[in-house]
Amino acid sequence: MTSARIPLIIDTDTAQDDCVALLVGLLDPRADLRAITMVAGNVGFERQVRNAHLTLNAAGRLGDIPIYLGCRRPLVRDWVSAENVHGDGAGGLAMDFDGLAAHSQHGVDALIDLVAAAPGEISIVAIGPLTNIAMAAVKDPNFVGNVKSLFIMGGSNNGRGNITAAAEYNFYVDPEAARTVFEAGFNVTVIPWAPLTLDHAVFSREQLAGIAAIDTPLARFFTRVVGTTLDFDESVGIAGSTHPDSLTAAVLLHPELVTAAADYAVDVETGSELTRGYSAMSWGVHELTANARVVEAVDGAAFLQYITDLLSRPSTLNRPFD
Ligand code: RIB
Ligand code: CA
Repeated sequence: MTSARIPLIIDTDTAQDDCVALLVGLLDPRADLRAITMVAGNVGFERQVRNAHLTLNAAGRLGDIPIYLGCRRPLVRDWVSAENVHGDGAGGLAMDFDGLAAHSQHGVDALIDLVAAAPGEISIVAIGPLTNIAMAAVKDPNFVGNVKSLFIMGGSNNGRGNITAAAEYNFYVDPEAARTVFEAGFNVTVIPWAPLTLDHAVFSREQLAGIAAIDTPLARFFTRVVGTTLDFDESVGIAGSTHPDSLTAAVLLHPELVTAAADYAVDVETGSELTRGYSAMSWGVHELTANARVVEAVDGAAFLQYITDLLSRPSTLNRPFD
């Protein structure tokens, strides 16, 4: 018996592990990827679109999945680049981009229309700042109810941030959007940066060498894309490459990866500059109403094996990489 495919949209600021998350959506037989929506985040907006095209190409799926361009800056703040971490976000890979175009509809309207066409069926994997998701919730009062589930990569579970001591990047960049989303009433699952990602979704150099040795086109793409960030991660004391975005997509498709999760009341700091984007995750003892399920632990070895298996699949590039 084959299990039903899971319809999803990936909302992304495509660079490094966002590319791996897109591969999860493109290659996992359980995934029915309906669209990619782009949001301002990691690297320049047009660069992110190119990175998404590079990823579609690596999977041999160029032209199969529409890319919709969403918000090009946070709701009320200036964009904050993570190019110091990611470089161009694709390890310098290039190809002929001639004739490749994003869909003409705005990403926020695409999110609204796609879930309205299949109410309660489509899940969203949000792995960048939450600007598009907040905009859609504000624009269409039916949007929240039409989304089956919202899987968010962001925040820390009362742990360390990564862009500041207090804040994880996605929530820091657009804290007003994050706060709006947690207040909106979605069926939310959160994959936080700390401690979850740092404890269970870091691939060591040895593990990365194991993936590189597979030497498939997908493994070569992965190795190139992840390589740039590895040096940065090690410079800040993380012993390998980090994979919060691909873990978020994987957990939607394979909930059995989760070994611990609990309901929390999540809120995001918007007032303070010192703790901008801090995620307060209240674990049920403060008389607050829970608004999210927060993943606390996953089977890290199973996740590494899952990504390894995915990258072992045969694929044919649509266009050669330069
Ligand atoms: O803080 C981790 C998040 O920001 C991930 O979504 C990754 O893309 C990074 O830049
Ligand atoms: Ca991301």
